[in-house]
Amino acid sequence: MKADPWPILKGGEEQSVFRLILPVKGGIELAWRFHFPSGTDSAISLGEDIRRHPRWNNTKGIPVFTAKILLLGSGELGKEFVISAKRYGCHVVACDSYANAPAMQVSDEAEVFSMLDADALRQAIEKHRPDFIVPEIEAIRTEVLQEFEDKGFTVVPSARAASLTMNRDRIRELAATELGLRTSKYRYAESLEEVRTGAAHTGLPCVIKPVMSSSGKGQSTVRTAAQLEQAWKDAVANMRGDRKKVIVEEFVAFEYEITLLTIRSREGISFCEPIGHRQERGDYQESWQPTPMTEKLLADAKAMATKVVDNLGGYGIFGVEFFVTRDEVIFSELSPRPHDTGLVTLLSQNLSEFDLHARAVLGLPIPPVRLHGPTASAVILADREAERFSIQGLREALELASENADVEVRLFGKPTTRKHRRMGVALASGNSVEKARERARQAAERIEITYES
Ligand SMILES: Nc1ncnc2c1ncn2[C@@H]1O[C@H](COP(=O)(O)OP(=O)(O)O)[C@@H](O)[C@H]1O
Ligand SMILES: [Mg+2]
Repeated sequence: MKADPWPILKGGEEQSVFRLILPVKGGIELAWRFHFPSGTDSAISLGEDIRRHPRWNNTKGIPVFTAKILLLGSGELGKEFVISAKRYGCHVVACDSYANAPAMQVSDEAEVFSMLDADALRQAIEKHRPDFIVPEIEAIRTEVLQEFEDKGFTVVPSARAASLTMNRDRIRELAATELGLRTSKYRYAESLEEVRTGAAHTGLPCVIKPVMSSSGKGQSTVRTAAQLEQAWKDAVANMRGDRKKVIVEEFVAFEYEITLLTIRSREGISFCEPIGHRQERGDYQESWQPTPMTEKLLADAKAMATKVVDNLGGYGIFGVEFFVTRDEVIFSELSPRPHDTGLVTLLSQNLSEFDLHARAVLGLPIPPVRLHGPTASAVILADREAERFSIQGLREALELASENADVEVRLFGKPTTRKHRRMGVALASGNSVEKARERARQAAERIEITYES
């Protein structure tokens, strides 16, 4: 505790006391400013001397907000993060390439521009001068994030983390080569010829993915050599960015796969219970907690997650993905932000992945995370493109709750639908993971989208 109580001890003067919440490197600081009519000022704060802080002169004494956040990407994960951040008194500017995106519906301000447009991104950061720049999606001009981090802005968790995880080859190099984590066999390829050589190295079946893509786009599992050409074409046609490059990965016949939500905060590293999930077309369909794992496998996963997030640095939550076989845990990839399979934590835990992200970013305490019990999530998908549609069945879905099972539905408020677009998620608890999954699926099925165009 740094204190300068001398002016108070002088006494005799009517001092005014202002409570300030000031964003500093690595979080927010609570401070008290004592102001005396004679012009003397004194401060009590934890940590650094905040009298040089740019917001020190906010003598209205009422902090309008704890920190200003520029959210890059405004989908459903962004929306839940905004809700958590708003609860801690933040001011949030939500950005995305289209208006009325989910997070914009709950934010203080919104900006519509493409985050791949370097100039537009620079302008938005300059205009708002946020305390924290929080990416919600992968497709961002990450060089711009680096530029602003170099100027002293805080990028969550770090500009390097955003840049490495946007490129499958960069994060793979870090994990497999630099950190020595167990991954599937792999090779990179920039031509059909190299794809064939890559597949000879990994063996068949193999999985082919553009180095820049997400949600399964351009990704295929190849079972015979004859399918390699089509897989290469699909990958090239669906890749993001200007690098015509794919990763050819050994197909892992895993028993199950998990997301290990890993929190990196001022206080160190902590974890949520592993989340099991089921993917289709590279998109998650259902997720659940807990996932029973042997102590050894869980310890291996935690050790790998710790290595990688410590290397990436910064504060926030990370969704670290692993494939689990009978006796081995294999690192797959990670998101340096809340993970879609982690939507289940909206019901399952005392603090959701969004609350935890907000706390870690703001430098607030991370208490032990408690899992209430078996819980599952099931996605609610649209099946076609439409601009006019309506959603029914919320009452019917919520009626599935009973004495020993909670049911919740989150509707994201996306303004348009397209095939397989995630429009909401159903959440349910139960006496077992199986019962929770079943109930979440039933609830999701009761939500009906009616298309008018
Ligand atoms: N090498 C692999 N072996 C087996 N399944 C895989 C492999 N790579 C990806 N998958 C499956 O595809 C899903 C999506 O792949 P992932 O690499 O996580 O891409 P994305 O960035 O689109 O999430 C995984 O969760 C897993 O179910
Ligand atoms: Mg993934």
